[in-house]
Amino acid sequence: MTVSTDPHIEEVKKDITFRVFRFNPQIDSKPYFDDYTIKVERGITVLRSLNYIKEHLDSTVSFRAFCQAGICGSCAMRVNGQSKLACTTQVWEVLEKCREPNVIKVEPLRNLPLVKDLIVDMDPLVDKMKNYSNWVESTMSEEEMGKKEFLIPEEEFLRYDKATDCILCASCVSECSILRANSEYVSPAVLLKSYRMNADSRDSIHDLRLAELVKDHGVWDCTHCYRCQETCVKSIPIMDAIHGIREDAIECRGMKDTSGSKHAEAFMSDIEKKGKLVEATLPIRTNGMVWTLRNLLPMAMKMIVKRRTPPPPPLVKPSKGIKVFRSMFREMTKHVREDQKSHKK
Ligand code: SF4
Ligand code: SF4
Ligand code: FES
Repeated sequence: MTVSTDPHIEEVKKDITFRVFRFNPQIDSKPYFDDYTIKVERGITVLRSLNYIKEHLDSTVSFRAFCQAGICGSCAMRVNGQSKLACTTQVWEVLEKCREPNVIKVEPLRNLPLVKDLIVDMDPLVDKMKNYSNWVESTMSEEEMGKKEFLIPEEEFLRYDKATDCILCASCVSECSILRANSEYVSPAVLLKSYRMNADSRDSIHDLRLAELVKDHGVWDCTHCYRCQETCVKSIPIMDAIHGIREDAIECRGMKDTSGSKHAEAFMSDIEKKGKLVEATLPIRTNGMVWTLRNLLPMAMKMIVKRRTPPPPPLVKPSKGIKVFRSMFREMTKHVREDQKSHKK
C-alpha cells in the first residue's frame, strides 16, 4: 500500500500483517484466520488497509463500510480485541496493542449473529429498538404537524444532546458483559436511545417505554461494568443514561416496582446502616421469600454443607468508623438528590 497522505512528508512505512477472521457459513465448517501482509504508511486507517487487501490481494474478504468518515457506523469491528470503527482507527494507533509485533487482528463484533467474515447481522439490535419503542411519538396533533416547528428549550436539549450523537455502530453492544451471558438483555445502545426518547418533552409514550425498560432483561440487569462507555466510539456517557432511566423508574414507579429497584434500595440501606452488605438476607429483600426459596434453596443447602453461608444479620457488625462514614453517606445522598432535582428543572 503506497498512497501517501501528504507528498511533502517523508512517510514511515512498515510491513503490517492483518490477521483477518474468516467464515463463510455456506462453505466453511468453522472459522479460521487469514494473514495478509502489506506495506502501510503512517496515517493510513484500518479500513483503507482492508480496502487495499480486498482490491489487490483477496476479493473474497467481506466487511461493511460506507461513509469512511465515522458517521454511518457500518464499519465497526474488533481491532486487536477492541470494538472500534475501522475508518477512524489509524493502523499506527493500534500497533502498540499487538500481541505479536506488527500483527493486527481483525474480527467481527461480538454479541450479534455472524453473517460472513467481518459482517454481523444488525437485525436483533434493530428489533430491540422497535420493542422498546425508540422513536418520538409526538404529542403534536396531526392537523398541526408539518405546519409549524415543535421547539424544545435549550436546557432540555442539553440533557440528551450527547445521546443524539449515537451512530448505532454497535461497538458498545459488542463489549457488553451482560449480553455475552444473556442475548435478551436490552443492550447499552438501546438504553441510550430509550433515555434520549424519554427525556424528550415532545414524546407521549414515556410511561409505556419505561414500563418495558424495567421488565426482565431491562435496565436493572446492567452490572455497571462501564465497558460500553469506555468503548463508545463517540465518547457518549452511556452510564449517565442508564442511571437516568433507573432514577426515572424509581421516581415514576416507586421503589417497590421491580427486583432491580428493591435490590438497589436494600443495598443502599445496608451500606448506610453497616457500611457493608448483609448478604444473607439480600435475595429475600430483593426478590421476596417465595422466589428465594424456589430459586436459591438448593444452592443455600450446598453452601450450608460446605460451611460457606454468609453470616446472619445480627453477626454482621458495622464497619470501623461507621458513624463518620454514615454522616458522609447521608451528606452525599442529599447532594445527589439536590443535583437530580436541579437537572430536572
Ligand atoms: S455497564 Fe451495563 S450496559 Fe454497559 S457494558 Fe456493562 S453491563 Fe452492559
Ligand atoms: S452508544 Fe456509542 S458505541 Fe454504542 S452504538 Fe452508539 S455510537 Fe456506537
Ligand atoms: S464507514 Fe461509516 S463509520 Fe466507518
